[in-house]
Amino acid sequence: EKQKIDRKVQVMKIVESLIDEINNLFNNYDINEKIDFKISNVENFDYQVNNLVKYQNHKKIEEIVNKINLLLDKNELIQNFEITNKYFINLKINLTNCDKFLSNIEENILIPNPKRILIDYGGPNIGKPLHVGHLRSLNIGRSLKKLNKLIGNEVVTDIHLGDWGMPVAQIIAYCELENIDIKTLKAEKLIDIYPKSSSLYSDSEEFENLAKEKNKELNNQEKEVLEKWGFLKEISIDSIKETLFLLGHDFDLWLGESDVNELIEPMIELLKDDGKVGIDDNALVSTQDSDPKILIAKSDGSYLYLTTDIATIKNRLENYDFDKTLYVVDARQKLHFIQLFQTVEYFNFPKRDYKHVEFGTINNEEGKPFKTRDGGTKKLLDLYEETYDYIKSINKNLDKNVIHKLTNTVLTYSDLLTNRKTDYKFDLEKFTNISGKTGIYVQYAQVRAKKIIKNSKKENLSGQLNITTDEERNLVVGLLNLELVINQSIKFNEPHHLANYLYEISNLFNIFYQDENILNLDNEDLKKSKLLLIKYFLNTTKLVFGCLGIKPVEEM
Ligand code: ARG
Repeated sequence: EKQKIDRKVQVMKIVESLIDEINNLFNNYDINEKIDFKISNVENFDYQVNNLVKYQNHKKIEEIVNKINLLLDKNELIQNFEITNKYFINLKINLTNCDKFLSNIEENILIPNPKRILIDYGGPNIGKPLHVGHLRSLNIGRSLKKLNKLIGNEVVTDIHLGDWGMPVAQIIAYCELENIDIKTLKAEKLIDIYPKSSSLYSDSEEFENLAKEKNKELNNQEKEVLEKWGFLKEISIDSIKETLFLLGHDFDLWLGESDVNELIEPMIELLKDDGKVGIDDNALVSTQDSDPKILIAKSDGSYLYLTTDIATIKNRLENYDFDKTLYVVDARQKLHFIQLFQTVEYFNFPKRDYKHVEFGTINNEEGKPFKTRDGGTKKLLDLYEETYDYIKSINKNLDKNVIHKLTNTVLTYSDLLTNRKTDYKFDLEKFTNISGKTGIYVQYAQVRAKKIIKNSKKENLSGQLNITTDEERNLVVGLLNLELVINQSIKFNEPHHLANYLYEISNLFNIFYQDENILNLDNEDLKKSKLLLIKYFLNTTKLVFGCLGIKPVEEM
């Protein structure tokens, strides 16, 4: 235990204690800025601090600069630094202690005060297959799960199925109308029913009434319709699970809208007693002063998406205590989540952190939302198969399992590489380019690294690094940056920092490795040090692959 703490202290020394010192110094001059260590792209420097730039006209700027000079001068971790005439602070660090970090990354990135985090992502609706619109939620959600677990947080994931209400009632009504026996329905057939029933709902008043009747029966828990709903849900979940398994996703909780349905009425009663909701124009609204008014129940008594989400929070508060909930949901639902968080605050629910982790759309090559040729939503299963076939066509000799892993790599890496708020184009050719910024590139780098370790027959290397070249130094600094990149990804719930980082260290590795024939080196110590560095590279990539939800392949 003692040893663990010492190591942690060493790492903190690399970045955090220095940040603290500079922070304190700034505070003494009434500069209230959070010091931000940025990875530098200035030649000969590792990090850059830009916080001072805005204060060039500060009355005591010269005094501050002198103090920073003194502070950095005596800090043993700073090998070299400069403060430019525009007040950029450039730092080069001393790598004497880097082994302590690199040999114990996993312990070193654990945070001191873990939290309990609930991640609500995926969110498919029953009756519909998983489609391209689910890809980003699944990828980002899984990545945030793995990342939070890695730093020591406790994570519970909930797929939050859309398994109740009008869309489900429509399917049941349609089957009744067409004499389709839900019990024996196949998942493939179900896929056609959903769009048909929803267009019929908008075209035919008669069908609309039938669906509304079914919805009422559903809400009244009538036996016959409830039984049909049960079959429908089962078929759907089976097919959803199949696709999820193929894509490497799993969830702790398979709860959904239906699980909170019975909580809504008593919840509303309590809210009425507290004056938090009231009647307005025959409908039930939140009494909070807002424009527009927040609707809780329509005049026909039916509840809304928002109502279900409020009840879901209540349910979670009671059954799975959590500090924070992340909702990984399409940016188009922004207003919904603003209203949700605002409403539960107004309703005086226990204070917790809520965050809508929003994301943009995946477009096709023409920049239009990704659809099938006939305009329907593209199934994830089809996207998987197309990607699989494409990879197979460019490399026929690969083993099935390797192609499978590479397919998931492509579907995940390129997706996570884009800032989640931006839309992007799905471009299979670009995403599979072995020399581009792709999942294939990062896989290939770690395969090369594994191969050299294997050929060296020195799998259990340990000891101390002996850094002799710029390429080695750059790779070491790259590996040390993991902590900063993780902090950033966690702080903003943005896996793209990690995806970019993986590319960068893979690139640094390739540069380091390029014209070295490491195994033929005469100097045994040098050879050992280089192999050890490769091992550290592999440890780091393994962690980052894990955080992105990608499985490294053994060969390719
Ligand atoms: N099923 C919803 C949809 O398809 C997404 C659910 C997101 N999660 C939530 N708690 N609202 O739009």
